[in-house]
Amino acid sequence: MKISKEDHVTFNKYWNYVLPIERKNLIFNILRKIKHSIENFFNIKIIIKKNFEEGNDRNSLVISKNLNKLKIIQLETILKKFLKDLHIKPNINIKKIITQHDKIFFGNCPVKDNSGGIGYNGSLFLYSFFNSIKPDLIIESGVWKGYTSYLIDQNFRKNFQIKFDINFSKLMYKSKTAKYIERDISFFKLNKKELNCKNKLFFFDDHISQYDRFLLADKLDAKYIIFDDDISHSSIHSDGWPSYPTIKMCLEKLDSGIFKWKTLGKVAKGKQMKFNFAKFLKKINKYHYVRTQNISDITGYYRQPCMSFLIKK
Ligand SMILES: C[S@@+](CC[C@H](N)C(=O)[O-])C[C@H]1O[C@@H](n2cnc3c(N)ncnc32)[C@H](O)[C@@H]1O
Repeated sequence: MKISKEDHVTFNKYWNYVLPIERKNLIFNILRKIKHSIENFFNIKIIIKKNFEEGNDRNSLVISKNLNKLKIIQLETILKKFLKDLHIKPNINIKKIITQHDKIFFGNCPVKDNSGGIGYNGSLFLYSFFNSIKPDLIIESGVWKGYTSYLIDQNFRKNFQIKFDINFSKLMYKSKTAKYIERDISFFKLNKKELNCKNKLFFFDDHISQYDRFLLADKLDAKYIIFDDDISHSSIHSDGWPSYPTIKMCLEKLDSGIFKWKTLGKVAKGKQMKFNFAKFLKKINKYHYVRTQNISDITGYYRQPCMSFLIKK
């Protein structure tokens, strides 16, 4: 498995950016390497002024109680449906969940700017889910600055937890109780105690093929699986490092061999995945599978790719 720790990415055997790299990109890559070296040497972060605080959901929010109430009423309906589709009941009332979530998200969270990670919308779906399940082992792959780990700790601080990332240099929040492993999960073996857990939760936000991650989690007898960025074929350009093939893509029928797309000016090429569809269907049908709905129009936070949640039936 080839990884680029500096860029926080793992190369995917099913797709790649097309060479030759444009001159513009070449200069950009050299400048980026210099930036990384300076940052690592002085232990500082260089931010382009234009991008500072851009895309940070915590900088804009409704303040008035009546606006917030209206938001909560609309979100309640969507979250109720989301949990119902997953065949689960929340442990507390949904309005309370939203209020608690907002306190966590806008409150004392140590990750003040989670650009590169999940924003308000995804965070709310995650928190609602966490409040409705009882996992005994939580495995998170793709930690970044640690915001989602912080969110997990709000419910499961006392549970067994293992965190995987190929590069922990950006960590701003570290769970006191979790085990941190700086390598890909596929090179790691769970011990007997971990294997014996009956309600394992896997949360993948590592931009690795979701098909491969699903097979791994299923083999390890997952009870719950979460995938961030479960995008469709036609929206592949929306993700700079797609987890191709995603679960949604595996369920779509694409009949071309090779396909191309452009993301922020860079052309990428993917190979159509060849796999035994019937076998995959048999495995995925053991789970309730729900993709999140777009709530940008209610929350005002920009649209991020769909998240998906699976629970073993
Ligand atoms: C989108 S970020 C995760 C964001 C995080 N879930 C949040 O919102 O708080 C993706 C992370 O995946 C990590 N990553 C890349 N390849 C990986 C691999 N093979 N295994 C685990 N993590 C990987 C990157 O280093 C990066 O930290």
